[in-house]
Amino acid sequence: MPVTKVQPFMTEDDLDKKWKKRLLAHRMELIIATCIIVVVTLALGIGLGVGLSCVGKFRCGFSSQCIRSSAQCDGEVDCGNGEDELGCVRLSGRSSVLQVQRGGVWRTVCSEDWNNLLGASACKQLGYTSYVESFFIPLTAIEERLQYNLVSINLSQSQIIKLQNAPTFSKTQCTSGKVTTLKCLECGFRPKYATRIVGGNLSRPGQFPWQVSLHFSSEHLCGGSIITSLWIVTAAHCVFGFTDPSMWTIHVGQTEQPVHGAQSLAVEQIIYHTRYRPKGLDYDIALMKLTKPLVFNGFVEPICLPNYGEEFEEGTMCWISGWGATEDEGETSVFLRSAMVPILSTKTCNQPEVYQGLISPWMICAGYLEGGTDSCQGDSGGPLACEDTSRWKLVGATSWGIGCAIRNKPGVYTRITHSLSWIRQQMEVSACYCTIQYNSNETWIYSTLE
Ligand code: ARG
Repeated sequence: MPVTKVQPFMTEDDLDKKWKKRLLAHRMELIIATCIIVVVTLALGIGLGVGLSCVGKFRCGFSSQCIRSSAQCDGEVDCGNGEDELGCVRLSGRSSVLQVQRGGVWRTVCSEDWNNLLGASACKQLGYTSYVESFFIPLTAIEERLQYNLVSINLSQSQIIKLQNAPTFSKTQCTSGKVTTLKCLECGFRPKYATRIVGGNLSRPGQFPWQVSLHFSSEHLCGGSIITSLWIVTAAHCVFGFTDPSMWTIHVGQTEQPVHGAQSLAVEQIIYHTRYRPKGLDYDIALMKLTKPLVFNGFVEPICLPNYGEEFEEGTMCWISGWGATEDEGETSVFLRSAMVPILSTKTCNQPEVYQGLISPWMICAGYLEGGTDSCQGDSGGPLACEDTSRWKLVGATSWGIGCAIRNKPGVYTRITHSLSWIRQQMEVSACYCTIQYNSNETWIYSTLE
C-alpha cells in the first residue's frame, strides 16, 4: 500500500494557498537566477572584449597584453617583447624632420643641444646601421602641422640611448628657431647613370640601381627594392608560403637575366606583414634581410624611403621597372624594362568603372586609364619610384592589377608611406646590439657588441 502523508491540521484550502506560494517563490528564484546569469555573462563578455580590444590602451604587438597609453614610448619597457618602446622616432614631411614620440604625442625636435651621437642614436631607432649627418632648418620652413609640438633633447652621456629616454625632454619652443633634420643613409642617387637615348623601354645599367631580382629555386619570381645595405622591400604575396630563406637568392646590379657576374646574395630572414592574407589585397608588404651587407657601387644603390606624411599627388610622373611579362600571361623578360607612369588618386582609382572601391589606404594606383603601359606578372614586389628634388623615393611596391595594361585597370602598388611604421619596426627590432663610433674615414660606424 502506498503511504499518503497528510499533514495534520491542514484543510484543502490551506494546502492550495501553500502550493501557490511555493510556486511563486520558485518562479522568483528562477527569474533571479536568470538575471544573475545574464549579468555575469554580460560582464564577462564586455570585460573580455575590452581586454582583447585594449580600448583606450596600448596593445603589445599581437598579444592580449594591454598597457596604459602613456606607458608607450616612455623610456621603460612594459610589454613582454618591448613593443611599447619601438617606433618612437620618425622622419616627417619633405625635409625629413625628426620627430620623437613620448606618451602618445609626436614632437618635432629642436636644434638646440643636438649632437651627432643623438643623430646616430635616432638612425639606429629608425632601423639603420649608418648615420650621415644632421641639418638644422628654420622652424618656419617646415610644414605647418609639424610646427606645433616641439621638444629639445639634452643628453650629456656619451652612450647610445633611445631618444625618448633622454632625461631632459622639455620645451614647447625652439629658442634657436630651428629644427633638426636627419640623414641616415645616402640614398636615391644614380651615380653611374648617364642619360643617353634608351632603345624602347629597356633599362640602362645604373638606371634603377635599387632594383633587385628575387630568385626562388634559381628562377626569377619577383622584383624588390634595396632600401639599406641589409634590407630589401618586396610584396608579401611573393613570399607567402615560401619563407624558407635558403630557397631564395637576391640578384643586384644587373639588367639582364640570367645573371652574368652580378652580385648575388643569400637571405637571412623573410618577414611579411602578419595581417597579409592570400585572399586579400591589403598589407601586401614584406622585407628580406640579407646575410651580408651589400656593397654600393653605382650599379647597386639604395632608394630612399619616403617620410611620414608625404603625399604623392595625382599626375606625378614616376617609374616602374622589372623583368615581368611584356604582355598578359606572357613570359618574363630577359632584359630589365621600365616605364613612366602617372600616380592616380585613390578617388580616381576607386571610380565604379575602375576598381569600384577596392583601393584601400594600403594601396596607391599608378598608370593610364586608357591602358597600354603597366606592370605585369613577375614585376611584383618591384619599385614604383618617384624623383623628388633630385632624389628617388620608393612610393610603391608592385602588388596587383586586373590583367595588364587594360583600359580602366591600372597597376596597384602597396603604398609605402602607409607601410612605413611596419617597415621601420621590423628593421628596428632586428637592428644591431652595437655602439657607434666616428671613424677615420669621417663616417659613423656601428660596431657590434659581443
Ligand atoms: N601580382 C603580379 C605579380 O605577382 C603583379 C601584377 C601587376 N599587375 C598590373 N596590372 N599592374 O607579379
